[in-house]
Amino acid sequence: MTVRPAIEADLPAILGIYNDAVLHTTAIWNWNTVDLANRQAWFEARAKQNYPILVAGAPGEVLGYASYGDWRPFDGYRYTVEHSIYVAQEARGRGIGAGLLEALIAMAREGGKHIMLGGIEAGNGASLALHRRFGFVETGRMPEVGQKFGKWLDLVFMQLRLGE
Ligand SMILES: CC(C)(COP(=O)(O)OP(=O)(O)OC[C@H]1O[C@@H](n2cnc3c(N)ncnc32)[C@H](O)[C@@H]1OP(=O)(O)O)[C@@H](O)C(=O)NCCC(=O)NCCS
Repeated sequence: MTVRPAIEADLPAILGIYNDAVLHTTAIWNWNTVDLANRQAWFEARAKQNYPILVAGAPGEVLGYASYGDWRPFDGYRYTVEHSIYVAQEARGRGIGAGLLEALIAMAREGGKHIMLGGIEAGNGASLALHRRFGFVETGRMPEVGQKFGKWLDLVFMQLRLGE
């Protein structure tokens, strides 16, 4: 599997994966789909901050994507990043999420970050297991801070220490 930096031409495919997760999962706590302009603004914001967006797949193919950005926009948090990973429904369970996360961790480490943080819905067993496999540990659990599909959702924070 190839993991490569996303280019603008990947955005329609990224949009499709994102909106599918909005409609069918509790991984994203948005209730409504977004449009291409939304993903374009996100792409530009990441580039401006020199933060990566990685995609899995050959050129012209996007099986999944991953990115990180500031956790909180204050100076003191600058060594902590919050990441996200999404794999297309039909491509899950084939090692793509693991490949993306491995590459993202390496980039955060090379970029001098200290902590990588994921906010995961407590019932998302696949994501919790994926993060455990890479050494992430649970450091926070916040009951009923979100709602989707008419149900309260608990948020679990898992973090990985990248360096000294
Ligand atoms: C979570 C997600 C990114 C995992 O990606 P994936 O490509 O399917 O996962 P992989 O095939 O790389 O599996 C890597 C590890 O994840 C875990 N995992 C993946 N799918 C799993 C499942 N259905 N149940 C339990 N563990 C699972 C396992 O630990 C697995 O390692 P193993 O194969 O050695 O057991 C993917 O399911 C996804 O995009 N889900 C919807 C969006 C989402 O939840 N994103 C995360 C938001 S926090």
